[in-house]
Amino acid sequence: MRVGVLTGGGDCPGLNAVIRGVVRKGVQDYGYEFVGFKDGWRGPLENDAMPLGIPQVRGILPRGGTVLGSSRTNPLKVEGGVQRIKDSLAKFEVDALIAIGGEDTLGVAAALSDDNGIPCVGVPKTIDNDLSATDYTFGFDTAVNIATEAIDRLHTTAESHMRVLVVEVMGRHAGWIALHSGLAGGANVILIPEQRFDVDQVCAWVTSRFRASYAPIVVVSEGAMPKDGDVVLKDDSLDAFGHVRLSGVGEWLAKEIEKRTGKEARTTVLGHVQRGGTPSAFDRWLATRFGLHAVDAVHDGDFGRMVALRGTDIVRVPLADATARLKTVDPGLYAEAGVFFG
Ligand code: F6P
Repeated sequence: MRVGVLTGGGDCPGLNAVIRGVVRKGVQDYGYEFVGFKDGWRGPLENDAMPLGIPQVRGILPRGGTVLGSSRTNPLKVEGGVQRIKDSLAKFEVDALIAIGGEDTLGVAAALSDDNGIPCVGVPKTIDNDLSATDYTFGFDTAVNIATEAIDRLHTTAESHMRVLVVEVMGRHAGWIALHSGLAGGANVILIPEQRFDVDQVCAWVTSRFRASYAPIVVVSEGAMPKDGDVVLKDDSLDAFGHVRLSGVGEWLAKEIEKRTGKEARTTVLGHVQRGGTPSAFDRWLATRFGLHAVDAVHDGDFGRMVALRGTDIVRVPLADATARLKTVDPGLYAEAGVFFG
């Protein structure tokens, strides 16, 4: 048996731990061989692959990024893309594919598996933690830790200058990073994509924080929107899955706060720092277990499925279900944080 492995979409800490788990168990327990397709779906589309065995996965557990590279290539949008993937799998004598990715990568895996008979197993990843079929995706915990540390540091400099610091974190459609890091870091305002915000209310919280002689920290998800405006964009270019590039709401909000309150406001955009570097212990643990269970699914011939975390168990769910609905922040959960606003 020869198994192809690829990592697609935005990278995130823990990808290498999955690859290592897959290869170690596949080689040691099942005697499998592996092929690493490079840069997500671009690899099988363009016959770009690398050897993947125990030597290639040695030492990669704590390393961020992915040794296979990643891209947002969408083979379903490429003329003859599905056939090219089938031809590539035949060329490399690959019997099954393990696709490690988020909503987009797994959406392609579902289509290839369910509609085109390509045996795929999915592994969920995204720092945004917005896949509904799994309690957590790896990468999220690391991103929250990085954002929390940044907020901790911003408190002291904000207080020294008595200015507002707005921290923009990632989170395209879901405010999980903002909510978790904002609570953990003691933010005074947390703004998420699921609930439109009122700039006047934000300014009222900012003012009340100053009245208590503290400097306010405002955490905002890149996808958060003002109540009577639209999402703030860096530019209007789209990726291969049709997503716009977010970021800009932090800068915009700081200007509005300054204008309306007369207090100096600055912005820190954490950006890709949240996705880089070594994974947290939790993410290494989760990613490793996902890898072990993904190769078990291949061994069982259980294709068209994704591994998922439920409580402390790893279960298998249909790939199609995994991408059917985004997991967003429940209003009740967001409301809990409100006691710390202002
Ligand atoms: O989907 C994960 C994510 O990190 C989002 O939070 C963010 O909007 C996007 O990827 C950024 O993508 P890119 O790295 O392609 O700019």
